[in-house]
Amino acid sequence: MTEQLRPQPRAGVMQIAAYVPGRHGSDDGKTWKLSSNESPLGASPAAIEAARAAMEHLELYPDGSANELRNAIAEVHGLNPANILCSNGSDELLGLLAQTYLTPGDEGIFTEHGFLVYKIQILASGGVPVIVKESGLHADVDAILAAVTPRTRIVFLANPNNPTGTYLPFEEVRRLQAGLPSNVILVLDAAYAEYVRRNDYEAGIELVSSSQNVVMTRTFSKIHGLAALRIGWMYAPAAIVDAINRVRGPFNVNSLAITAGAAAIRDRAHVEKAIAHNEEWLPWVTRELEALGLTVTPSVGNFVLIHFPENGDTARNAEAADRFLSERGFILRRVTGYGFPNALRMTIGPAEANKGVVAALAEFLKA
Ligand SMILES: Cc1ncc(COP(=O)(O)O)c(C=O)c1O
Repeated sequence: MTEQLRPQPRAGVMQIAAYVPGRHGSDDGKTWKLSSNESPLGASPAAIEAARAAMEHLELYPDGSANELRNAIAEVHGLNPANILCSNGSDELLGLLAQTYLTPGDEGIFTEHGFLVYKIQILASGGVPVIVKESGLHADVDAILAAVTPRTRIVFLANPNNPTGTYLPFEEVRRLQAGLPSNVILVLDAAYAEYVRRNDYEAGIELVSSSQNVVMTRTFSKIHGLAALRIGWMYAPAAIVDAINRVRGPFNVNSLAITAGAAAIRDRAHVEKAIAHNEEWLPWVTRELEALGLTVTPSVGNFVLIHFPENGDTARNAEAADRFLSERGFILRRVTGYGFPNALRMTIGPAEANKGVVAALAEFLKA
């Protein structure tokens, strides 16, 4: 059969480099998975209990509006539930936003080391990815604004960003929004917002409330320890919620996710515990790795980007380190696809894993 006679995916699809998730390692209890920024504390016991109870009725469709979950999020964050839309992971929302607001040939902007799902979703929607240079591993507002053209429809900004762990102070985000044409959506992907302990940081709630073109996305996969259930949400102007509601699957959030998510977000003590754990171990890991002579990008998230020596020593580069760590049960993340061939991203894990990685890297660098 000739190529033309076969079904053909839409333009752009074959340019997509499929997302490569963090490796799992073995299930024999001998590996530490530090590759996907999951919570070392696990889920709230209340969330686990709620999911268990929901298993009694797997024959029923979920509530298509996820009311219980939207109400819980609204209550905790002081928002109007009408402006909240839930999804099957925030990844789904990133795709729905691209699909709903891009027509083929429209441009979607993201930054040089931005989260890879943005590029995938722009291409999948027939859009044109526009990649903007960062400065000092931070998103550069002036460079983003300079890249805007009459075809620009969406700007994706992870704040804090994955995999760098850097963030933009909110004055900068405000300046970005103020400079964008009003028909361009600014997506503030705040997947790691809860971990940030900085006075000049905001996730974006106020900016969404005061404008028509800003959306904030959040996830239950990180601080709430519910990655397996796939729960994301956005806070957005009514017109954007209305549009996405028309496009999304009618039952995109499952019953276990709805009820467990509601219990998780109400368990503030569990969230505080996760924040405290990160507050203790993020600086410790950063300091200890720097003491080994490695460069660590200052992170405000629950992970660090570790850069290996740039002296051409292939026995001491990121690839060799990844092998060395994997052999000892520590699964970190290669980040070549993010433009960092000689770095690894490490999730802040349980105490034992954090200490183990530092000890293993000390041995690796000495060997
Ligand atoms: C910046 C960022 N956004 C979104 C996500 C997606 O999260 P989920 O689809 O699990 O909600 C991630 C997960 O790694 C992320 O790092």
